[in-house]
Amino acid sequence: MLRLNSQLKATNTPADLITLIENITAACKDIASNLHRGALSDMLGSAGAENIQGETQKKLDVISNDILKEYLIDSGLVRALASEEEDSIVPAQSNAHYLVTFDPLDGSSNIDINSMVGTIFSILEAPQTAEVSEQDFLQPGRNQVAAGYVLYGPSVMLVLTTGDGVDMYTLDQSIGEFILTNGQVSIEKDTKEFAINMSNQRFWADPMQRYIGDLLAGSDGPRAKNFNMRWVAAMVADVHRILCRGGLFSYPWDSREPNKPGKLRLMYEANPMGLLVEQAGGAIYTDKEPVLDIQPEHIHQRVSVILGAANEVAECLKYHQN
Ligand code: F6P
Ligand code: MN
Repeated sequence: MLRLNSQLKATNTPADLITLIENITAACKDIASNLHRGALSDMLGSAGAENIQGETQKKLDVISNDILKEYLIDSGLVRALASEEEDSIVPAQSNAHYLVTFDPLDGSSNIDINSMVGTIFSILEAPQTAEVSEQDFLQPGRNQVAAGYVLYGPSVMLVLTTGDGVDMYTLDQSIGEFILTNGQVSIEKDTKEFAINMSNQRFWADPMQRYIGDLLAGSDGPRAKNFNMRWVAAMVADVHRILCRGGLFSYPWDSREPNKPGKLRLMYEANPMGLLVEQAGGAIYTDKEPVLDIQPEHIHQRVSVILGAANEVAECLKYHQN
């Protein structure tokens, strides 16, 4: 039985990074216990406010954000943090070495139906600037020193990379520890399963319409095989399925909000998931470039995403090149 701490030590993770990751997972255990109380906790429903992205905040979005902020600031290891639920960066310990970005509760519209949600996080090294600013966060995803998520499902799981493959841990509630349950997971290069919100089909650009059209045509179409479809409406759960049994996930640009590159956020969702997916042998692109190579321009930047099985992502990109 390998505990998170032992596994991180065994893989030569720096001691301060281990402590930081343990602070994040401690916050997530706290979030998990709030989630598990469900309607008993009076924490379901709307918080009556909107975040900077113009989305209605759920009470649990706000509570999860506050919990993570508190643990991260208390750790003394974080120079500043950036959250999907905060308008601007939050400075913490002035001489600390790390920056953390997070989506405190991804897929939070699932809360009210008692379905899967998760916390996504990304750790960067803090540039040694005189005063921390948003600029310090604007590093390509490839710079992440660690990234992961905690999935609050039938069991609570931590999926983590420190740049040396992807490990999955399951929370043993009886001892309060994350135990390694699937080491070095990898995503099969080929797949017969895709995840996309089909209700947006008519708003997609032509290449995406053609690509998905060909998947739907199944064994009668040019792909000559039948595809299955899944959509949890929580990126964290859709990516988890892909890490477990393969598949392709996309949230593409669409014409409902033509000036936004996509719905998902680069720094809180696409980059951390991107590092996990690449570390598991999969691929993550916008409709033209690797997501992890994007030079961010602001912390709340959005991006279109195609990720998962390497050969299937390449197939989808072919439609975008022609
Ligand atoms: O954080 C954005 C998000 O909730 C993702 O987790 C999820 O993949 C997507 O939005 C769901 O979007 P929609 O409600 O359009 O299906
Ligand atoms: Mn999210």
